[in-house]
Amino acid sequence: MPGGSPPCGASPGLRVELPGLSLAHPVMNASGVLGSSVDGLKRLAAAGVSALVLKSFTLEPRSGYPTPIAVPLPYGMLNAVGLSNPGLEKLPSLVRNAKAFGLPVVASIAASTPAEAEKLAAAASEAGADAIELNLSCPHAKGRGLVLLWDRKAAAEVVNAAASVSRAPVYAKLGLVDNLVETASKMLEAGAAGLVLINTLPAMMIDVYSAYPVLGNRVGGLSGPAIHPVAVRAVYEVYGETGAPIIGVGGVEDWSSAAELILAGARAVQVGTGIVRHGEEVVCEIVKGLERWLNIRGYESLEDAVGAAQRA
Ligand SMILES: Cc1cc2nc3c(=O)[nH]c(=O)nc-3n(C[C@H](O)[C@H](O)[C@H](O)COP(=O)(O)O)c2cc1C
Repeated sequence: MPGGSPPCGASPGLRVELPGLSLAHPVMNASGVLGSSVDGLKRLAAAGVSALVLKSFTLEPRSGYPTPIAVPLPYGMLNAVGLSNPGLEKLPSLVRNAKAFGLPVVASIAASTPAEAEKLAAAASEAGADAIELNLSCPHAKGRGLVLLWDRKAAAEVVNAAASVSRAPVYAKLGLVDNLVETASKMLEAGAAGLVLINTLPAMMIDVYSAYPVLGNRVGGLSGPAIHPVAVRAVYEVYGETGAPIIGVGGVEDWSSAAELILAGARAVQVGTGIVRHGEEVVCEIVKGLERWLNIRGYESLEDAVGAAQRA
């Protein structure tokens, strides 16, 4: 916003401070939605997001899973994109292109070893990312070959490696695992400055006439309104226990779903499937609705609402 008016005309009461991120309002896109190309970033900036979150980058280019990669559902969406991205080599230029829009930039990286995390985090940080989101649900991770997060020790090593080389604060993006609060605490101990909660939930759909799983990869991730109450619970419990800076994500489609995550303890929210289903115009609708809600509730600033459900 340098020199211009704040995105979505947000009032000063909506400002939020997070490690590395000074935001005009709390609403940004979720990784994987419009954050992989300059055109997509341009649409997001024009739509008024307070920060640009990039698609997850891996060390090597990935072409992604076979089609179909996404299925719309009445209550959200099922996707198995497979982290398709052009790899480390192209990360610095995307970060620099994103920075040109004058908004804080969150680079997302997915690493399966500490050495990979160092390379990706160093590249993102050197290119000028304001924060790094470490996607710990990496489909090519060693061991189970699916979700690095299920091996908490390995995940902590990856967080530590990224944080030790990056000038920009590192946020650990967690999916739903058993003992989420303990896992989150371990990521913070390992050097994460904040958390992004939550990623999609493992899910699948089967065509009853052909008996074939519908997604090319058979299993994928569920997102959208279906996972919103799960995200609210995750943020509520992790914030209650750790008080960490949290960016809430999962099923935000309107101001009230954003407000719920904030009351649970999130200082900012990300919108993924909401943008896919309703267009990026939804961003300013959420911001304006949050502003009305703060006024009606008598909160002087958004910061006063953060975690208010913990005290209710
Ligand atoms: C099409 C699609 C692609 C995604 N790609 C990524 C990704 O590259 N990295 C990541 O961390 N999360 C990715 N996600 C997960 C989202 O960032 C978000 O955590 C999840 O979708 C829940 O939010 P939502 O309900 O607002 O979509 C993707 C989600 C979708 C729907």
